[in-house]
Amino acid sequence: MRTQVGIIGPAGLMLSHLLHRDGIESVVLEKHSRQYLEERVRAGVLEQGTVDLLVEAGVGERLKLQGLVHHGVELSFGGRRHRIDFADLTPGRAITVYAQQEVAKDLINARLDAGGRIHFETHDVSLHGLDTSKPGVRSRVGDIECDFVAGCDGWHGISRVSVPEGALRVFERTYPFAWLGILAEAPPASDELIYTYHERGFALFSMRSSAVTRLYLQCAPDEDIANWPDDRIWEELRTRLATSDGWHPAEGPILQKGITGMRSLVVEPMQFGSLFLAGDAAHIVPPTGAKGMNLAIADVRVLARAIAEFYRTGRRELLDRYSATCLRRVWKVQRFSWWMTSMLHRFDSLDGFDHRRQLAELDYVTSSRAAAGSLAENYVGLPLD
Ligand code: PHB
Repeated sequence: MRTQVGIIGPAGLMLSHLLHRDGIESVVLEKHSRQYLEERVRAGVLEQGTVDLLVEAGVGERLKLQGLVHHGVELSFGGRRHRIDFADLTPGRAITVYAQQEVAKDLINARLDAGGRIHFETHDVSLHGLDTSKPGVRSRVGDIECDFVAGCDGWHGISRVSVPEGALRVFERTYPFAWLGILAEAPPASDELIYTYHERGFALFSMRSSAVTRLYLQCAPDEDIANWPDDRIWEELRTRLATSDGWHPAEGPILQKGITGMRSLVVEPMQFGSLFLAGDAAHIVPPTGAKGMNLAIADVRVLARAIAEFYRTGRRELLDRYSATCLRRVWKVQRFSWWMTSMLHRFDSLDGFDHRRQLAELDYVTSSRAAAGSLAENYVGLPLD
């Protein structure tokens, strides 16, 4: 079998779609089932640039109908909520709440409708000849010879670990906590997201629709979900989220719960020979900045352009610059995600000085137009290029 670009992993669905629009053929190999990708609960905040790109690429129909456009977020501390007004500060930009699995559905449908090749439940993928111009992807589907391989299969996928030892450098930061997240059948009690700093730990109020609330609370990194019966979750959320004006989240049956780890990781470079790493295969951000999917989509846009330029003109400059172009943005997004995480969580290792410093930072961010503008600019998304 031959194709132009062999793509491994779900973040590659967008790449496959963008390449198709430029007349470039690809095959996507994905280890999970279609149902798993379309149902797994992940994050749900899209930057303005991500929304614009999905719409421009013709996969924004449902997003435009069902996405919830937010023109600000709130930061809550000391029992009070403070709004960061994106519309005013950025200006005119917004974020859209639309679940990652909905984006996956839209992309899978678009690819299959266009006759695209996606092989789900392909577990046994291996990569060959990455240091040549004719790399190969081997699996139960057969041997696929390609010009390029795109590794979009996450940090634990096979792409990154197929690179010879020593060719990549990993930068890492771990955090001494995790998030316990729930989906609840309860109408969101606020129109916007609320990031909360509380002495018992961070909490986040988010949503998925007019009937479903999404909530998170900081917990121990090795927390056992079995220790968190529904009553305990609600009590903790109420304690952390309630504000002195009487606001608290609406409660309802818990539909789903899970633990999300917190790590910052970057691999450099994001390329080895004919293999290009994109999304979580190259970097992981803690969820506090809501950046994971946005960063993956930004990477594949850079890659799609570079590959299209190569087939159109034979020039490799954009391909050669792929890693440097992506990493410039990746590190800024890492910085923002780390900063939001550091400002909003309770660290047991910190003392009274740090606690007051965190509160001063929150006070500054919510009272200085310059500081609020910096948060807003990063939250709605830095320019894609
Ligand atoms: C979510 O709605 O799942 C969500 C929102 C904001 C975050 C992380 C997750 O920072």
